[in-house]
Amino acid sequence: MQIVSSIEELRSIIKWWRGEGHSIGLVPTMGYLHEGHKSLIVKAVSENDRVVVSDFVNPTQFGPNEDLSSYPRDLSRDAALCEEAGADVVFHPEPEEMYDKGNCTFVDMDSLTKGLCGKTRPTHFRGVCTVVSKLFHIVTPDRAYFGQKDAQQLAVVRRMVRDLNFGISIVGCPIVREEDGLAMSSRNTYLSPKEREAALVLHKSLEIAEGMAKSGEQDAGKLISAIVKSIKSEPLARIDYVELVDAETLEPVKAVKAPILAAIAVYIGKTRLIDNFSFCPEAQ
Ligand code: PAJ
Repeated sequence: MQIVSSIEELRSIIKWWRGEGHSIGLVPTMGYLHEGHKSLIVKAVSENDRVVVSDFVNPTQFGPNEDLSSYPRDLSRDAALCEEAGADVVFHPEPEEMYDKGNCTFVDMDSLTKGLCGKTRPTHFRGVCTVVSKLFHIVTPDRAYFGQKDAQQLAVVRRMVRDLNFGISIVGCPIVREEDGLAMSSRNTYLSPKEREAALVLHKSLEIAEGMAKSGEQDAGKLISAIVKSIKSEPLARIDYVELVDAETLEPVKAVKAPILAAIAVYIGKTRLIDNFSFCPEAQ
């Protein structure tokens, strides 16, 4: 496995692979990799001849008061995990390599990015769409792998690929959780032991609502109230949002009649965590 930091070098590897007739999978990440990321890489390895994992803390998706400088980084640990998972290249550029001086072009979207995480992070998805587009242009993958953990991001990337005719298959992968149910996240490292315990309320509250939906409850208001009540029982938790939206358009719904996404963002102390579940009434 190779660690590559230059776009030019990566392009020449891709050209070589294409000459050999290889298919290529891309797993975009911001590093500090865990089992959730690994599941994406393993899937990519199983479906493509060659796999690139990008490991880049993308400055343009962080707001001014967010955790860009403190975001955890550990390239040697990441490289070991990628190698074990069977990746061929870790692409680890410096910010100056990805964003040339004077860079002023961005990829933005009209809908889908305004609600949910877009409310408290208004410039976040512009940064995500921009860096993912750049990675798509550099790597030209056949398939790219994204986690359902960031459900809004997955919906946004799918829409962008359709709207901009990228011709890349977007593969969504299920949420990987700790044994006690907490969704794995690089940001979990910010939690103190007490906060780590409190963070379980995210999954617990979603489980309550998912159980209600499976038993036939269709009233979105009732499902939301059940989640809110459960989160409020945890003193260290502060709700950013609790929403039930259409799984594709991300527009709020009143009733569970088509595939929906129940998505939450909750502050545990200073750390903002997200979690969700998807539910399809016809599949029941
Ligand atoms: P990052 O948070 O590092 O996540 C990289 C990918 O791993 C995303 O597709 C995310 O949904 C997936 N992932 C994270 N935790 C997961 C879990 N517990 N189970 C399954 N998948 C999980 O998302 C980003 O980076 C960035 O926004 C990026 C797309 C790389 C653009 O900078």
